[in-house]
Amino acid sequence: MKSPTYILGIESSCDETSAAVCRDGKILSNVIASQEIHQRYGGVVPELASRAHMQNIVHVVDAALSQSAIRQQDLSAIAFTQAPGLIGALLVGSGFAKSLALALKLPLIEVHHMQAHVLSNLISAPSPSFPFLCLTVSGGHTQIVRCDSPLSMEVLGETIDDAAGEAYDKTAKMLRLPYPGGPLIDARAQEGDPKRFHFPEPQVPGLSFSFSGVKTSVLYFLQKHSKEDPSFVERNINDICASFQHTMTSILLQKLKKASLETGIKEICLAGGVAANKGLRNGLTELGARYGWNIYIPAMEYCTDNAAMIAITGYYKYMNHQFSDLSVSASARADW
Ligand code: KG4
Ligand code: ZN
Repeated sequence: MKSPTYILGIESSCDETSAAVCRDGKILSNVIASQEIHQRYGGVVPELASRAHMQNIVHVVDAALSQSAIRQQDLSAIAFTQAPGLIGALLVGSGFAKSLALALKLPLIEVHHMQAHVLSNLISAPSPSFPFLCLTVSGGHTQIVRCDSPLSMEVLGETIDDAAGEAYDKTAKMLRLPYPGGPLIDARAQEGDPKRFHFPEPQVPGLSFSFSGVKTSVLYFLQKHSKEDPSFVERNINDICASFQHTMTSILLQKLKKASLETGIKEICLAGGVAANKGLRNGLTELGARYGWNIYIPAMEYCTDNAAMIAITGYYKYMNHQFSDLSVSASARADW
């Protein structure tokens, strides 16, 4: 009988140190050490992220192996996030992955973080059939990707300025909510009136996104009203959050609808931390019912940054003999 293929995945592109193991494409473990330290600074501090990865990585990899009840010697290959991300953070994961591959004489597999987010939709059943569209929305990215097979994808549109999660977090900061503010805006939005205030939606061609204008219009709105009434934000926070969330959801879903109509694809997936957003989920469900879409949203532990998606992508690359040599380096930016 053929022995199973075990892939160790390592993710360190931002502020999550994560390791996961998959056996023949099925996830056995997904250990994530979140870095709390950034909350104090109102955003991710790159230098502190690199240090925390250094402190966490050995422990996280050990935990992923022991939770999978396998030994280092059982591994078939090591996959790691090569790009994009914070360079110092990526260098910790890639340096560790290379050293381990060298020590264990195992093949090394570089993984593109954004492609892995898309493939997080293949981790659990039911998974989409090909081709599918994926809206990836997180603190660092906003993209619509067409996926024709696990290793064949194309970016149809992306943000030209802020990412959706970044717009949430910056708006939350203006509302004096702590970092990361996305979930806090979402919670307040549930109690507010989404039609009370109007924030203009940007007119961006094609399938591109822009969020910096929305953020700026919230800023001017808050400045104007707070001057007249210093307690304005406090008294209206739920309605402000609901109205902002309504605008964000509308921008994201309009582009997704356009992508589906243009491609004729009705298998629609979400990925990234903003996939937790209730407004987006409810809006997507409504739109899906109207247009006959099949909708897929990974479990939250696979939406936010995680190594399970790196291990799965590594598995497909392993089956396709796509290996990296030991001179491979991490990069902050990456083409597809
Ligand atoms: O994917 P993720 O964990 O990390 C990366 O940015 O790669 O995404 C984190 C982002 C943050 O901007 C956070 O505010 C946002 O996702 N987020 C949310 C919600 N939950 C997390 N934004 C809006 N509503 C939420 N419920
Ligand atoms: Zn990410």
